[in-house]
Amino acid sequence: MEERKLPTHVGIIMDGNGRWATEKGRPRTDGHREGANTLKELALHMNDLGIKYASVYAFSTENFKRTKTEVDFLMNLFIEMFNNEFDQILKNNIRIVFSGREKPLSDKVLKAMRGIEEESKDNTGLVLNVCLNYGSRSEIVDMTKKISELYKDNKISLDDIDEELIRKNLYNDLPDVDFLIRTSGELRLSNFMLYQLSYAEFYFTRTYFPDFHSDEFDKAIDDFNDRNRRFGGN
Ligand code: IPE
Ligand code: IPE
Ligand code: MG
Repeated sequence: MEERKLPTHVGIIMDGNGRWATEKGRPRTDGHREGANTLKELALHMNDLGIKYASVYAFSTENFKRTKTEVDFLMNLFIEMFNNEFDQILKNNIRIVFSGREKPLSDKVLKAMRGIEEESKDNTGLVLNVCLNYGSRSEIVDMTKKISELYKDNKISLDDIDEELIRKNLYNDLPDVDFLIRTSGELRLSNFMLYQLSYAEFYFTRTYFPDFHSDEFDKAIDDFNDRNRRFGGN
C-alpha cells in the first residue's frame, strides 16, 4: 500500500461557530467557545500525525465589523485560552506563532499572545500559526512597507526583490499552504493567505467548525491523498 501523504502546511478557515450555536437555540458565543475546544483537539491531533505547520483563521481584520458584544467576547476568549487553556498544547511540544496586525488589539490580548509565543518558542513539534486580526491584504500592505524600508535604507537593491524576499517579509516565514480546509459550507477565502495559497488544494465541508473533529480531519486528509498536484507541470 502506498504511504499516506501528509500536507506540510494545513490552513483552516474555522467557520460556522455562530450557526452551530444558533441552530441549537443557543447564543453565538457558545459556538465560539465550542470552536475553541475543537481547535485544541485538532492541534493535538495534527501534532500527533506529524503535520509540521497549521495556520488557523481565528479573527479577520473584517471581523471588527461585528457587534461590540461579540468582538469583546472573542477577545476575552483569546486571552483566556492563551493564558490558561494551552497547557496541554505546550506540554505536547507545539509552538504557537501569530499572524496579523497588532493595531487595534488591546494590550491585554497582545500580552497573552506574546506570553504564549515566548513560552512555546523552543518547542519543536507542530507550528500553530494563529491568524488573529489577520487579513491577507493588510499582510501584503505591511510586507510592501517592510521591503520599501529595506530599500530606502540601502539594505537591498531592486534586483533583490523576489518571491523569497516577499515570503520572508510576510508576518511569518512559513512554507506555502498545501491544503486549505474551510468548514460551514461557504465557498470563499474571506481574505485568507492569498499569497500562500497559490498552489494549495482546497477542501470544503458543510460541517460547522465546532463539529469538525479529528475523524473528519482524517477524512479530509484522505481526500488530499486522492489529489493529483501538478504545479503547472504535466
Ligand atoms: C467563525 O465562525 C469564527 C469567527 C469568525 C471568529 P462565525 O462566527 O463566522 O460563524 P458563522 O459563520 O456566523 O456561523
Ligand atoms: C472568516 O470567516 C474569518 C474567520 C473564520 C476567522 P467569516 O465568517 O468572517 O467570513 P465571511 O464573512 O463569511 O466571508
Ligand atoms: Mg462565518
